[in-house]
Amino acid sequence: TNTSTYKRGAFILFEGCDRTGKSTQANKLFEYLQIKGHAVKFWKFPDRTTPIGQTINAYLTNNQELDDKAIHLLFSANRWECMPKMKNLLLGGTTIIVDRYAYSGVSYSASKGLDLNWCRCSDIGLLRPDVIIFMDLSTEESEKRGGFGEERYEKKDFQEIVRKTFALLKEKDDDDSLWEVLDAKQSVERLHEQIVEISLDIIENCGQLPLKEGLWE
Ligand code: TYD
Ligand code: MG
Repeated sequence: TNTSTYKRGAFILFEGCDRTGKSTQANKLFEYLQIKGHAVKFWKFPDRTTPIGQTINAYLTNNQELDDKAIHLLFSANRWECMPKMKNLLLGGTTIIVDRYAYSGVSYSASKGLDLNWCRCSDIGLLRPDVIIFMDLSTEESEKRGGFGEERYEKKDFQEIVRKTFALLKEKDDDDSLWEVLDAKQSVERLHEQIVEISLDIIENCGQLPLKEGLWE
């Protein structure tokens, strides 16, 4: 067999505050790549389908109280439990589009007052994304989009802090070339075009590279 044509999949991550259009754009990208014949899978964190994910869901929907550190570690464990599957997909040549990851994990928890460096610890060593598409939108704009929902973190003042914490996390990131910050105020179509361009470039260029392990190591 000709191993030189082997290509691993790309890990394309969407991050941002609530109501910035992450899921809309992640889904549009998924459909686009699928139609173009790429092997592609969609992944969303928290993954509410697992036993850990069900506890997270109970917490987010205000049906269960949990210590801030305990819920932080559950969000993190929810990513760890998915690593073997995600790794196999990438190695098998499938691109994965991921909606939220460790960057949300750290930003939301640190925004509650937990130490940022403590928050990073439990995600150290996860798979690293090949690109972070950060959907940036002012809290005023995101609130205009039909208002926030009923879930625990969907409050204007808190979202404002989360947005600042995301910015801090990007600033502190040694790998800050990973971040593609997009102005999420643009139209759905205009954003989609930019995201397609970024993603095709990443898929093309990361195929030959080894899998990126060791997040924040
Ligand atoms: P979200 O993606 O907004 O789910 P949905 O589209 O179903 O509303 O995620 C739910 C919330 O969980 C969101 O407010 C961000 C928060 N979150 C954390 O606090 N830590 C994490 O590690 C992750 C992945 C999400
Ligand atoms: Mg939400």
